[in-house]
Amino acid sequence: MDSVPNTQRATLALLPSQQMDSRQLYFAMLDERCSTVGQIDELSGSISRGFLLEQLSVAAAIHTDFPAEMRSLPDVLRSAHDQVAQDYQCYLDERGTGSPRRYFSCRSHAMYFLRTVAPTKLVDGAWLYGLLQSWQDPRLAPLIRTYLEELGCGNLLQNHVQIYKRLLARYGCDKWQDGPNEHFTQGAVQLALAHNADEFLPELIGFNLGYEQLPLHLLITAYELNELDIDPYYFTLHVSIDNASIGHARMALQSVLDCTPRLGDAAEFYRRVGNGYHLNLVGMGTEEAIASFNLEQELLRVLADKALSGAKLHSDYCLVGGRLVSEWLSSSGETSELLQTLQSTGWIRRGKSLEQSRFWRLLTDEQAPMFGVFDGYELQLLKDWILDDADRTPTLKRFRIRPSNGHVKVTVVPQSDATIEQIIAHHIGREPKPNSCADVDVLFQQLAGVDTKEQAFAVLTGMLSPANHPTPAGLAATRLYADLFQHVT
Ligand SMILES: [Fe+2]
Ligand SMILES: [Fe+2]
Repeated sequence: MDSVPNTQRATLALLPSQQMDSRQLYFAMLDERCSTVGQIDELSGSISRGFLLEQLSVAAAIHTDFPAEMRSLPDVLRSAHDQVAQDYQCYLDERGTGSPRRYFSCRSHAMYFLRTVAPTKLVDGAWLYGLLQSWQDPRLAPLIRTYLEELGCGNLLQNHVQIYKRLLARYGCDKWQDGPNEHFTQGAVQLALAHNADEFLPELIGFNLGYEQLPLHLLITAYELNELDIDPYYFTLHVSIDNASIGHARMALQSVLDCTPRLGDAAEFYRRVGNGYHLNLVGMGTEEAIASFNLEQELLRVLADKALSGAKLHSDYCLVGGRLVSEWLSSSGETSELLQTLQSTGWIRRGKSLEQSRFWRLLTDEQAPMFGVFDGYELQLLKDWILDDADRTPTLKRFRIRPSNGHVKVTVVPQSDATIEQIIAHHIGREPKPNSCADVDVLFQQLAGVDTKEQAFAVLTGMLSPANHPTPAGLAATRLYADLFQHVT
């Protein structure tokens, strides 16, 4: 994953949070590859705290269904869940009678959405990271378990961040890092909570409660992705793993009840939980991300982007509309005119089959001179724009969300009475020799000689950070952490 270069990072450290945008903060917080909980550097410590306070004040103005009385909370959540189920049934009925898709106008629209929400999805679960240091607190055990399950308990195929990365790569959507600021706000909030878990524990618990509820948009997104022949697994997985009966939504509610002070100020705690619940809604949400798509504008953006790198790469016999391609690409602000000229000169025949457009063949034919210049998403944009509704009738595929059998729950240790040394030795013994990743060897070297739970968790925790957990060493650390955690709880 991209990170902020060191020089830029040094500059960031001098800036108050008001002068940093969400994107800068996002990468700065994610850059702390080796940080351990409790040892957050000044950059993320103070700046992320300021950012969190700002976002909490933004969140305070957002209206939600969060009830004023804690005793109403279970009922309110249950009826919200029932409403989602009912609304989804209405959606299915509408679609069954021929209504068009509600979210995605075309396949590139869906791919645009995947890219837009990538900064959030690629830190999935991050807000819970800061709780790992509290592994001895039984009230927080369900939340730590939730985090471990977000990480697939160290199974590469079940790690949610890795699942999303594979989804982006599979459809050529992995160029998301240069998106506008608003794409990064929600992910930055999640990372800021990770870095400030102690101080903002009630807000974190409330944020988790809101995040783990089943939203209608998750169901519709999964349905329409499938219809557009895009693997919906990441989304269907969350329909099942976050379920309200035994899944993350139930554990989220339980943690609110368990963490409510018995002797302290319960009303104040609950007020802050509500603030965290509202915090879910800052930044760009799913429906806003979907509504921000404009096919032609997005195509023009991509072409302008290509012009920057392609201007000097065309020879002087490449002409469009009597003008050198290199001239077209060097003059900024003429992308729209270029697109018009490509049409008027027959390079693009809009509304006709793709093969009739010479420009399309230049990009996609075997040994075509521009083969590989556009990624999967960019090609799909061009394709949808050329076809111009001519061939966009939805392929109505049958779709039912089934409980995913692929996700893992926190695993069971080899023997319940195993010692710490035995559990660590068991994990080291399962690793391939020699290990293809040097970091894994270093991790196990660090664990050699560890004989207390405290030492083991101290070594492992930093490797479960949002930046580290999707790596081979992070996954190995997660597997061991999950076993140890099961052992002590
Ligand atoms: Fe997740
Ligand atoms: Fe979840």
